[in-house]
Amino acid sequence: MKKLFLLCLAAMAFAACTKQLPQANYDIIPQPKEVSLDERKPFELNFKTIVYYEAGLEREAMFLSEYVSNILHIGLNQQEYHGQTDGIVLSVVPEDFTQAEAYEIKVTSKQVTIKGSDAAGVFYGIQTLRKSIPFTSISTDQQQISDIRLSDVSCQLPSGIIRDWPNFAYRGMHLDPCRHYMDLDSVKVYLDMMALHNMNQFHFHLSEDQGWRIEIKKYPELTEIGAYRNGTVIGHNGQIYDTIRHGGFYTQDELRDLIQYAAERHINIIPEIDLPGHMQAALACYPQLGCTGGPYEVWRRWGVSEDVLCAGNEEAMQFVEDVLNEVMDVFPSPYIHIGGDECPKVRWKQCPKCQVKIMELGIKADEKFSAEDYLQSYVMNRMAKVVETRGRRVIGWDEILEGNVSETAIIMSWRGIEGGIEAARKGHDVIMTPSSHLYFDYYQSEDIASEPECIGGYLPVERVYEFQPLPEELTPEQQKHIIGVQANIWTEYIASFRHVQYMAMPRMDALTELQWNNPKERDFKAFVERCRKMAQLYDLYHYNYADHIFNPKAWADTVAPNLATQKPITLRQQPAEKYTYGGAKVLNDGELGRGAYNSGRWLGFCGYPMDAVIDMEQAVELCHVHFHALVNKGAWIYNPSNVKVLVSDDGETFREVVQKDIPISGWADKEGIFAYEVEFEPVTARFVEVVISGHDLPEDHSGFGNPAWIFIDEIEIW
Ligand code: ACM
Ligand code: ZN
Repeated sequence: MKKLFLLCLAAMAFAACTKQLPQANYDIIPQPKEVSLDERKPFELNFKTIVYYEAGLEREAMFLSEYVSNILHIGLNQQEYHGQTDGIVLSVVPEDFTQAEAYEIKVTSKQVTIKGSDAAGVFYGIQTLRKSIPFTSISTDQQQISDIRLSDVSCQLPSGIIRDWPNFAYRGMHLDPCRHYMDLDSVKVYLDMMALHNMNQFHFHLSEDQGWRIEIKKYPELTEIGAYRNGTVIGHNGQIYDTIRHGGFYTQDELRDLIQYAAERHINIIPEIDLPGHMQAALACYPQLGCTGGPYEVWRRWGVSEDVLCAGNEEAMQFVEDVLNEVMDVFPSPYIHIGGDECPKVRWKQCPKCQVKIMELGIKADEKFSAEDYLQSYVMNRMAKVVETRGRRVIGWDEILEGNVSETAIIMSWRGIEGGIEAARKGHDVIMTPSSHLYFDYYQSEDIASEPECIGGYLPVERVYEFQPLPEELTPEQQKHIIGVQANIWTEYIASFRHVQYMAMPRMDALTELQWNNPKERDFKAFVERCRKMAQLYDLYHYNYADHIFNPKAWADTVAPNLATQKPITLRQQPAEKYTYGGAKVLNDGELGRGAYNSGRWLGFCGYPMDAVIDMEQAVELCHVHFHALVNKGAWIYNPSNVKVLVSDDGETFREVVQKDIPISGWADKEGIFAYEVEFEPVTARFVEVVISGHDLPEDHSGFGNPAWIFIDEIEIW
């Protein structure tokens, strides 16, 4: 009975559709550069439509058929193209284009042609068509899918021409499967997500202090021992660890399969072996390669280990050369990433072998860099030669500019864009991936209490969308060195692939707009509308994603007007320069502190109290002071230690009315935004001074010995 009813419904729905078929919409992510529609009859896409492909494009035809089937549940037949005048035709015509990866889609009532400058261009044309196809009521209703007659399903593609090409040749996403291992099937889904976003470079970070992930046949212990850690620190690097063995690795055969999977989607995989730092997992297997000789463990904490490869030990250098050679045997990538970030020099300064090496090489410190910085350059340049000997190019994080890096190295600018600017001026090619805009492991919502715990920071989609990859400081000639844009996902606090997806999307939507289009004029509202279609696809494929941009703010922004609201306020000592934002008035502007510590809604103080004086402009009676503070222990931000309220009639002589101590938050305590209040017998006064002090970092914190930060907002007085 139910089935019959549904059948009738489906029949009715499609009877209606014969009058007005659902229309494709070419306003997609990334926005195509040129779309010119005409008023001619549209093309009807239905189960009879055949996909014709030129030789070499069979796989592209299969992808198109699969995508249409995913959305409309009709399978399109595929045939080789021999001049047919109907259907959808896929072809490569390099002479019609001026650059790689470009495409043109031409729609008439009889035929759709998707023409590329190369097969990748055809693939991106197919992605555009895929994202344009309308979702119908049957797209996601599995019950109806089994009931409808396939002959009923069709949609219209408006007639016209779309021409499109990428602004950046390098369009990357990075993934760190070392802090938390991600299985191969998940990585394949990641590649699917990249393909949907027209991205072509997958930066696969395969070695870390906390785990080694690639099989190296010459050094089997790397995966027997180095791929597993015997527990993981809980929270933001406290003293408590779980005892769960965590790890996993990819065999070379599995990686070859992955490379093939990526290549079919026109994605190159760039392997990264991070050296000479971030090597503790390797040292756990081969302790003789470290300066102290160990013993070492696969690290169970987050952060940057001081135990790095010994640069003065020839065996350690040979080890890296061997590893890189095996990596290049597996990965055909034209780029090989050799890391270079965050390599502490404390061991090298103490190590006789490293110091002898410095002498042998005749390295001298100068006013810019230490001898040990130049020792790192020696390691990086030596490994760059190994890579270049095999016809590949090296990529390194921007720290490799500290010293005398080889000119051919490509610089990944992550600590802001400054490294990228310096590198481009020196003639290096550059990939922009600044943590300020493109670290997708940061919070994406202001309401961090409702978000899964993450490393910190605040990076909403809006901020990604605002990013300008081509710094104005560079000349047009220097700007040509900015070959690409990439976002990074580090996984210290991301233990599952579902969480990776949540962090990635929809920020990847904003990223692809930059990579593919880099529009001068940006229209965030229109962008969000286009994201809605992407969200339908995410739902279709069961991708997890964050939906903040689709929901109006659920969080209260303002406080009720109180005695302090917008009254003249002064600070006896200014906040830290980086966290001053609008200055003292942020504290009583009526808007609640929200978001992460760097959202602009908090003032940050370190090593001295927040000491604010508010002028009520007349004598008032008060009995209650209320404020919020943010706690993010990994970022050295703790709750206040003490709050004191003083009052004055003349603004000069103050008398204390209340003082309260607040115990320090422990590792097991929750982080986020907390309210604090003090109450006292009613007093009458014109001036109120609120003094909020901070704790020192506790012994179980890696920053022990330093004062903690306090981040304060919205002082309310009643
Ligand atoms: C990095 O985030 N350490 C490159
Ligand atoms: Zn050493």
